[in-house]
Amino acid sequence: MDIHRTKDEMRAARAAAAGGEARLGLVPTMGFLHAGHMALVARAREQCDRVVVSIFVNPTQFGPGEDFDSYPRDIDRDLDMLRAAGVDAVFLPDAAEIYPDDAETVVEPTRLSRILIGRLRPGHFGGVATIVTKLFNLMQPDAAYFGQKDYQQLCVIRRFVRDLDIPVRIEGVPIVRETDGLAMSSRNVRLEPAHRQAAPVLHAALEVGRETIEAGEGVSVAGQLIRARLAQAEGAEVASVDLRDAETLQPLRGAPDRPVVMLLAVRFGDVLLIDNMIATPKEPE
Ligand code: PAF
Repeated sequence: MDIHRTKDEMRAARAAAAGGEARLGLVPTMGFLHAGHMALVARAREQCDRVVVSIFVNPTQFGPGEDFDSYPRDIDRDLDMLRAAGVDAVFLPDAAEIYPDDAETVVEPTRLSRILIGRLRPGHFGGVATIVTKLFNLMQPDAAYFGQKDYQQLCVIRRFVRDLDIPVRIEGVPIVRETDGLAMSSRNVRLEPAHRQAAPVLHAALEVGRETIEAGEGVSVAGQLIRARLAQAEGAEVASVDLRDAETLQPLRGAPDRPVVMLLAVRFGDVLLIDNMIATPKEPE
């Protein structure tokens, strides 16, 4: 497995591979890998001839007071996991390599980056869109793989790739969960034991919402039942519960007639967990 630490090395490796017919799959990550990331790698390996994983904790997507410094990191373990999974190359730059001191250009989706998580974390999706665009330009992959756990992130990425005519196919990969239902996330290790025990409530609350929508109830009833279920968990501080059109992320009213995405953001101590699920209302008989 090749490890490239600079943009020049990465570009040279890409140019060397570009002569052949090989399809290149990119899995962008911030490291501290878990089974969710490995599902992205597995999908990329199924669909592509070469797989590159980037590991970069991107400072520009963290706001002041967020967990950039305490974001978990373990590069040696990550590299072992990627070697074992048969990854061809890893791009492992540092921040100075990625962002020149006088960098002043950003990619900023306008509407999608300001709603939902974008309201809780101003600037976050601009940081994501900028780094993902840079990685696409450097590596020129045929396809790139992202988890559906970061549902809004996936929508933002699909939208700017379409809007800016970037020739990369975006693949969304389903959420991987622990056996108790907690969605896999690098941040889960930062939960205190009591919070870790309570955290599967996000999944349980989403199941309540799904059953409610599938039974033909409206989004406000489903939202209330989700909040009531979350309120039963010790230490859960609800940051947001949103039920939106799964395609456009626009707000909905009444009983929906199309798929609804239920998006949760819940704080346990200083750890913000997010989760989501799609509920599809039953067709009228
Ligand atoms: O989902 C993540 O881990 C990050 O937001 C990403 C896409 C790697 C960009 O830094």
